[in-house]
Amino acid sequence: MADELGELTKRALREIADAKDAAALETVRVRYLGRKDGEITTRVKSLAALPVAERPAAGAALNRAKTDIEAALAERERAMRDQSLAASLGGQAEDLSLPGRPVRLGRLHPISRTIRDVSRIFLGMGFESVEGPEIEWDYYNFEALNIPAGHPARDKFNTLWVAQDASMAVSLARTGTGGSQARGERPARDLGPMLFRTHTSPMQIRTMEQRRPPVRIIVPGRCYRFEATDATHESVFFQYEGLAIDEKLSMADLKGVLYSFARQIFGGERKVRFRPDYFPFTEPSAEIAFDCFACNGSGVTDAGRCATCVGSGWIEAAGCGMVHPDVLRRVGYDPAKYQGFAFGGGVDRLATVLTGTPDIRLFYQNDLRYLESV
Ligand code: DAH
Repeated sequence: MADELGELTKRALREIADAKDAAALETVRVRYLGRKDGEITTRVKSLAALPVAERPAAGAALNRAKTDIEAALAERERAMRDQSLAASLGGQAEDLSLPGRPVRLGRLHPISRTIRDVSRIFLGMGFESVEGPEIEWDYYNFEALNIPAGHPARDKFNTLWVAQDASMAVSLARTGTGGSQARGERPARDLGPMLFRTHTSPMQIRTMEQRRPPVRIIVPGRCYRFEATDATHESVFFQYEGLAIDEKLSMADLKGVLYSFARQIFGGERKVRFRPDYFPFTEPSAEIAFDCFACNGSGVTDAGRCATCVGSGWIEAAGCGMVHPDVLRRVGYDPAKYQGFAFGGGVDRLATVLTGTPDIRLFYQNDLRYLESV
């Protein structure tokens, strides 16, 4: 039986190879595997007539023959299909009729978008965008801004310190992102320990040290604070800082600039509210809020309490003020000749408000399902 089956399989494989088209192939299939009287099928049916002891071996041999024939049929069929496709393509190597793979378009992260929007608006008012190191000296982050060690204002900035050990601080500074001191040499002046900058304000000092007035800069950048995170706080976040120094600048100029900014970023006839505040590096200092663009400052919408301003009618946007004379003196500017204003606000805050994002952490989880929806 085994010999006979071997012969039969060989014959089947030869006929499969010789089949000229799909119809011929089908005839071969029916001849061997046809349900009613295919050569293999009838042999399977007659297994029952064999003595019990011979059945397993015979069954296995038949199965093998059947699988070999099936495989050869499938292979020949695929070859025929490829051949006819190649023929229909007229000898072209590629099938140009295949649909292309869709290309997914990238887009800017809402934080990047907000930074660009903010920068563009201030650029339009004559400000230049500059960036500074994220690893900073205590001097620039605090001292030069009138926040010496022990000053209560330091409590507001939960600071991540890099290292108290000077040699380690310097080696880390080498990997920093710029600035003369961040290039590596320990500066002549004692700049104190290094830290992750808690705000973008140190760039006020770095810029004034290097330039003479007039100065008009906007500084977007990443900041760090040692904070527990919640819906409105992240330990890594972004700020934008503004600084303008010139002769005869006044609080009226500060107001005008921020007025214009509010209208351009939120649209419409935004109102700006200034309330007295305290920052060590500005005098006087103020907190700026814009009337809410979503409810027009009423605190309510058709759906009830306004979700954008949480019912207050105002969106607090930034701190600001007239640059403190001591700060000017420290960088060698004469406060009798030069005055200026500064402001600093949260990019994330703007971005949440502009995109209706309920939780700041959604910006940093990098879940494309959310980021693509805003
Ligand atoms: N740097 C301050 C902070 O992070 C914000 C700020 C307030 C910046 C007043 C300024 C300013 O430039 O004038 O809390």
